[in-house]
Amino acid sequence: MIRVLVPRECRPGETRVAATPETVRRLSARGCSFQVERGAGAASGYPDEAYEEAGAALVDAASAVWAQSDVVMAVQAADLVQQRPELEQLPAQSVLLGLMEPHGNEALKGRLQERRLQGLALELLPRISRAQSMDVLSSQANIAGYKAVLLAASALDRYVPMLMTAAGTIQPARALILGAGVAGLQALATARRLGAVAYVSDVRAAAKEQVESLGGRFVDPPELEQKPGESGGYAQQASERFLSEQRRQLTEQLALADMVICTAQVPGRPAPRLIEDAMLTHMRPGSVVVDLAVAQGGNCEGTQPGTTVLRHGVQLIGADQLPCSVGNHASALYARNLAALLEHILNATPAEATGLHLDLNDEIVAGCLFTQSPVAVGGAA
Ligand code: NAI
Repeated sequence: MIRVLVPRECRPGETRVAATPETVRRLSARGCSFQVERGAGAASGYPDEAYEEAGAALVDAASAVWAQSDVVMAVQAADLVQQRPELEQLPAQSVLLGLMEPHGNEALKGRLQERRLQGLALELLPRISRAQSMDVLSSQANIAGYKAVLLAASALDRYVPMLMTAAGTIQPARALILGAGVAGLQALATARRLGAVAYVSDVRAAAKEQVESLGGRFVDPPELEQKPGESGGYAQQASERFLSEQRRQLTEQLALADMVICTAQVPGRPAPRLIEDAMLTHMRPGSVVVDLAVAQGGNCEGTQPGTTVLRHGVQLIGADQLPCSVGNHASALYARNLAALLEHILNATPAEATGLHLDLNDEIVAGCLFTQSPVAVGGAA
């Protein structure tokens, strides 16, 4: 029996929960027993009673149940480590699953190692086919890309689709999407559904075909010898010379755009600065920029997390927590991702074992084992 604890999230504004009644049922059928802190799913539309019906035990905050847990499932796991003193009670070698903002986060790694806890950071999950069902970055970026376009459309002072009315014809809005990863492609699909004409810029060669297959027009990266490379499907950091040429190219695009959706990122690095303040003066007053990369410094100069600022008549929306604004579905998908990962680990756990075994020879486990402590987890008999 693996004992799983689902605590309430502690980051302000976080509405998601790491397990839903659906995943509680699914994992209970695999031999897990669930303790869910009261109110854990309230902000995402999953009431306590639904967890009880699914077979979970409801527990109070600061309950002694922490000392009897093999696995803790969280969304913002790094915040949990910082803010929940109960974490100290977890038995050594317990597994903490969640988002940890792991790049360069040596302090968090140190704290987990001190406590002899094993942290699986979902940001480090390898981008390989068999891990797709576990990929929270994808499921959440999809939501962010979708919601970013809805935000832009509702803030815009224009219609998005082309309309022929008795008062004359309205031309479709033009969207410029920076970055054609998961969020960017979903933004493209959403903008197209609303009737916008969409242009998309990315530095990865593979992005062109994906953009065109969704009805977008690809903005080829600058023709320079030193294009940023790729590693594991991700773009690598671009040189300042490349970015400067890219900004020159994008200035022309900005002058024509009604909405700009910024999604360009390089893992573990500040987001590439693709729009400088002076470039905004080329945009039509009334147009909108939604910056999804704002927490990594932003693709657009001047965007601020969680707020909208007006620069040169352009609304800059710093959209850092969009999945939280779609809490019910964001939780449903996040929880399924986590369930798939836990099932994958359970599949590799020998039948005679009493707890969870993390197999460091497994690419998925080794990839996201942030604390690198290759030991078995003791479970309750
Ligand atoms: P991300 O969030 O790290 O970056 C978003 C996009 O920004 C990327 O497409 C990147 O190329 C682009 N970008 C970086 N610098 C840029 C610049 N200077 N100008 C314009 N664009 C720039 O990436 P995300 O969304 O996490 O996806 C990365 C890759 O992983 C994609 O190729 C995606 O298809 C792939 N992927 C693979 C999966 C799998 O096989 N399991 C699952 C999900 C994604």
